[in-house]
Amino acid sequence: MNPQTASAEILRLFTLAPVIPVLTIEDAASAAPLARALVAGGLPVLEVTLRTPTAPDAIRAMARVPGAVVGAGTVITPEDAITARDAGARFAVSPGATDRLLDACETGGLPLLPGAATASEAMRLSERGYHVQKFFPAEAAGGPDTLRAIGAPLPKLRFCPTGGITAQNAPDYLRLANVACVGGSWIAPVDAIAAQDWDRIERLARDAAALPRA
Ligand code: 3PG
Repeated sequence: MNPQTASAEILRLFTLAPVIPVLTIEDAASAAPLARALVAGGLPVLEVTLRTPTAPDAIRAMARVPGAVVGAGTVITPEDAITARDAGARFAVSPGATDRLLDACETGGLPLLPGAATASEAMRLSERGYHVQKFFPAEAAGGPDTLRAIGAPLPKLRFCPTGGITAQNAPDYLRLANVACVGGSWIAPVDAIAAQDWDRIERLARDAAALPRA
């Protein structure tokens, strides 16, 4: 899959909801009910980070939930890309980008949302054909002001800021012209998952799904 096609597919997924929950799952048994709660709350696009041994099983379980579109996050190496694809991930997200990772996702047909935090990183990815990127770590890299400033000389790029986004600051990003959606873990707090408090997670998802976009 070429980068232009990958970015177009990622942008299409971004139209489904203003927020992508970033999920780190310790217990595969919680994957399906968690996905059901998020989909019921209006957030169908889910990112499962490859940070726990259960992540591939969690992706498999969530992918079977009706309406869920499940991708893999924290995809760092070519091996991660293969793990993600074999688990059924429909897309991959990386905090940054390397040529080896880009090659692996393009060869493997896995749409990638690659990360950038500076104008040079964004330009390099754009040169290769990735016009949709993750702005990471969003808050630490300067927040909405930085992303707005990057957008002035690079107006064709679209971003999903992630890293430090909350229900409170998400609107500051979503009103930017170059932001398509935001990603974050606030919708599925670790304590709520541990307590299997799916109602609370559905409520958080519902609030997030109602956030307005530019
Ligand atoms: C991450 O890589 O952990 C994501 O960017 C989510 O960040 P957050 O936990 O600050 O929302």
